Amino acid sequence: MSGKKYCLQASYLLAVIILAVCIQLLCACGKEETDRAEMICVGVAVYNQSDTFLGEMVSCLKESLHDYEEKGVELTMVLRDAAGSQRKQDEQVKELIDAGCNVLCVNLVDRSTPSDIIDLARENDIPLIFFNREPVAEDIMQWDRIYYVGAPAEQSGIMQGELAAALIQSKPQIDRNKDGKIQYVVLEGEPGHQDAIIRTENAVEALRSSGIELEKLSSGIANWSRAQAENRMLQMISQHQHKIELVLANNDDMALGAIDAYDKLNYTETALPVFFGIDGTDTGMEAVIEKKLSGTVYNDKEGQAEAIARLIAALVLGERMEDIKFENERYIYVPYRKVELGTGDF
Ligand code: GAL
Ligand code: CA
Repeated sequence: MSGKKYCLQASYLLAVIILAVCIQLLCACGKEETDRAEMICVGVAVYNQSDTFLGEMVSCLKESLHDYEEKGVELTMVLRDAAGSQRKQDEQVKELIDAGCNVLCVNLVDRSTPSDIIDLARENDIPLIFFNREPVAEDIMQWDRIYYVGAPAEQSGIMQGELAAALIQSKPQIDRNKDGKIQYVVLEGEPGHQDAIIRTENAVEALRSSGIELEKLSSGIANWSRAQAENRMLQMISQHQHKIELVLANNDDMALGAIDAYDKLNYTETALPVFFGIDGTDTGMEAVIEKKLSGTVYNDKEGQAEAIARLIAALVLGERMEDIKFENERYIYVPYRKVELGTGDF
């Protein structure tokens, strides 16, 4: 073979290779283009939309998703309310999948039984973000496209306890019977919810470690509800009358229910205990400003909604997953903040 002919053949081969590489690159770019332009259909299933905090959280999620729409992403959100029934929620998730949702955000009714929903998502290869009601770690680990977005329950309890301790230390008149101890009652959220018992334990522990002597008079379950809390509080007042000096409620709605009970009985201001909540709902914040509620802990719904929206974009569009900071690989916990009058925190 002559040198010239060999050279010609070699450059022909090189041209073919370059062309093949270019075609491949073009295809790859084209594919990325179609993925990038994919429409996002978010299926959101909530445990009970009449829950005050949850209702506000859903509004925040709508806003955060709307921000993505403004950036040119085609996005729809389909919302379903299980009104407290896990069976109904399982059905609703099926419907969301049939409606073409390509990402699911689920606020479980019963956080201990997510398996049917996990199976449905996995069979259809649809990423699943649980929020606010945290499944146990073994369930999150069932599949690598399951995530959780929420807030660290212990922190909210510690902050509530610290707020109460600071107030008690600065106002000795809270110890109305002057026995050196603070007589308290607790209004608890749903049994089995990660934000109920953990909040109570940590609030009490934080008060104790701040040097406050405590005496527990009573506790009642009011399932996050203002009306149920009012009833529980009326019972506790009839049992303990003027002895109650502090009310620790696992959320703002229950703290407000306790205040409603005292309002109903026409207690004068000096005979009232001090009340602490958690959430920083619209009505909770108003009650802090009006000094009815001595303090609350802000459950950052805007931050949680933003984290969910960012995760959705990353999962469906492949956008900036590397910028998201996870704990234990697939958890996002948005911190709480203390809210009391004078902190300028709201
Ligand atoms: C908690 C919140 C409660 C209630 C509950 C529902 O985080 O503090 O008010 O909304 O979630 O799961
Ligand atoms: Ca006392």
